[in-house]
Amino acid sequence: MNSQIMEALQWRYAVKQFDTQKKVSEADWKVLAESLRLAPSSYGLQPWKFIVVQNPSLRAELRKNSWNQSQVTDCSHYVVLTTRTKMSEQDVQKYIAKISQVRGVPQESLKGYHDMMIGDVVKGPRSEIIQWWAQRQAYIAFGFLMETAALMKIDTCPIEGLEPKAYDQILKLEGTGYATVAACAVGYRHRDDKNAQAKKVRFDAQDVIEIR
Ligand SMILES: Cc1cc2nc3c(=O)[nH]c(=O)nc-3n(C[C@H](O)[C@H](O)[C@H](O)COP(=O)(O)O)c2cc1C
Repeated sequence: MNSQIMEALQWRYAVKQFDTQKKVSEADWKVLAESLRLAPSSYGLQPWKFIVVQNPSLRAELRKNSWNQSQVTDCSHYVVLTTRTKMSEQDVQKYIAKISQVRGVPQESLKGYHDMMIGDVVKGPRSEIIQWWAQRQAYIAFGFLMETAALMKIDTCPIEGLEPKAYDQILKLEGTGYATVAACAVGYRHRDDKNAQAKKVRFDAQDVIEIR
């Protein structure tokens, strides 16, 4: 297991050129989608939506607003990470109802938890910084997706080189309560992608990991 993980971490790199002919199978995609859905979030509130853009003309539009990066149009699955811009009482209530249903507990028993969340993300100081709060969590899901993909020998490229406002327009997100954060291209590397040969550039462990 350890060697498998180490190998996947070394094998993974940010792909610049995807093979347009190779598509992620339906069965593999299901696992990747679960890696996003099962990612942890603050309170478990899941303040996100992952939009999988498969329509070629939408992809072409998004590419124009992504520094013309070819990964946007050439990958198998293009996942746009979007997060809540505000948290409402309904958001919290929807989650409480879900806990009650999944765990078979009465909603009344969750009142303390409900009030705590309302007092923090809906009415508390954090309500002013929801976009920032939610975005940080979206990146955890991003990490889950990339690591899961690497373990499955599926390639990815995280993409922050994009215009979030333009994405919001193209994907008609305005007024939905969600806004674009970043994206992740998923698929298979082209055999000519030069970046596949590039050595990993990382600081030494003692520079970035401190044990006290
Ligand atoms: C949040 C984030 C945004 C990134 N945005 C882009 C991007 O827009 N285009 C790109 O080609 N690579 C992008 N990268 C890839 C990084 O350049 C790459 O991960 C880094 O240089 C380390 O190399 P490696 O991932 O190949 O090991 C991004 C990486 C992260 C984590």
